[in-house]
Amino acid sequence: MKILILNGPNLNLLGKREPEIYGSLTFEAYFSTLKEKYSTIDLHYFQSNIEGEIIDKLHEVGFNFDGVILNAGAYTHTSVAIGDAIKGIETPVIEVHISNVHSREDFRHISYIAPNAKGVIAGFGLKSYDLAIESFL
Ligand code: DQA
Repeated sequence: MKILILNGPNLNLLGKREPEIYGSLTFEAYFSTLKEKYSTIDLHYFQSNIEGEIIDKLHEVGFNFDGVILNAGAYTHTSVAIGDAIKGIETPVIEVHISNVHSREDFRHISYIAPNAKGVIAGFGLKSYDLAIESFL
């Protein structure tokens, strides 16, 4: 099974960025624990701060991977283009968030990803990604 974890803007700063919300672990450190835990899965990781690169990556994997776990960061709340990309591919996408976006500012309650996603997982810290992998298994 081939799964891509795709992180959007500012998620490269995990570990340093607002640790009271997002925790103090870097994504790279967390990703190596995921690789160990799910050693039978072909697990890939890509992060970009650029909307078009996220769309290009969705196109690249969207007809040959079994699943995408997407944390589009703030693009979740703004990007019609990422929403359209998900609509246009075959691979199912699960939307994840580290924080509970519904308990935060109103603008975080809107998602252009969710209507096109297989499901949404939010608010469980980095464990949100574990839960998304479990749901693909
Ligand atoms: C986030 C929530 C978004 O609202 C925010 O812009 C992020 C991170 C999360 O994982 O909790 O960058 O997607």
